[in-house]
Amino acid sequence: MGNKHSHSNKSKVNFEVIHSKDKDLETDRLSLGHYIMREIWQGNFLSPISDTLKQGARVLDVGTGNGTWICELAADYQKSQYVGIDILNLQPSIRPFNVQFIQHDILKGLPFEDNSFDFIHVREMIFDIKESDWSNIMYKELYRVLKPGGWLEIIDPELYWHDSGPVMTKLCNSVCDRLCSQGINPFIAKRHKESIQSMPGLTFVQQEERVYPLGPWAGKVGVLAESFLKETCKGFIKWVYPKKNVERVLNELSTEFKTYKSYFIVVRCCAKKA
Ligand SMILES: C[S@@+](CC[C@H](N)C(=O)[O-])C[C@H]1O[C@@H](n2cnc3c(N)ncnc32)[C@H](O)[C@@H]1O
Repeated sequence: MGNKHSHSNKSKVNFEVIHSKDKDLETDRLSLGHYIMREIWQGNFLSPISDTLKQGARVLDVGTGNGTWICELAADYQKSQYVGIDILNLQPSIRPFNVQFIQHDILKGLPFEDNSFDFIHVREMIFDIKESDWSNIMYKELYRVLKPGGWLEIIDPELYWHDSGPVMTKLCNSVCDRLCSQGINPFIAKRHKESIQSMPGLTFVQQEERVYPLGPWAGKVGVLAESFLKETCKGFIKWVYPKKNVERVLNELSTEFKTYKSYFIVVRCCAKKA
């Protein structure tokens, strides 16, 4: 039996939809999502910070989820110190000695001094943060706690599915409409660069994209990505089609992924604080 975890804070937008209430299921889903991302990007970061990490740096992971990303980094670069922050307590109680987890609502501000971190990583907060909160809180807070010379990395998928079949297209459109009505921008992934570039203190802003393939046509990563996406879509299907049979829609999606060789794009934006 999985543990339940509570979703009681008002600032959380889509928790019941995106994140399973079952802590074990949600932790597994996030781990799978992490391994797929690592495979697609062939690594855990893109910024030129490996020398800094080897020497000993301070690293922050915002919306750390189950903390897999930060625990991996902590094992790879043991001289550095790591903080993972999340509103939910999904992180393991047994963790590397150089990792600390803090439970906190980041929309209330980041609980750190100015200029505290050499590297800040924010991945897949697309469903949780409204566009106005990105502009009014997130970018400013991330900038504030980043050290001069430090790097910020934001990774998000774009919620537009390429080469999609009719079921997938309709689902994606309905989800995007719902998100927009809540003030969430489903295309924020490609907006981060523009927003960050408009901040005078952030330089060397660079954006890269990768294909996130869905289905066996793309080999093992495609098979895993399909299963991750289907797990994530369960909540979306119940949200936008409360009367439909979820398993049936998932089977239709599988067929479409195979037939159309569907995929979406993941975007990574890196910037250095002057
Ligand atoms: C899709 S998960 C991504 C987790 C992790 N970054 C990864 O890539 O595996 C989004 C995470 O953001 C957290 N989150 C959402 N809103 C938050 C908030 N206001 N404050 C802190 N964490 C938040 C959620 O609890 C969840 O763990």
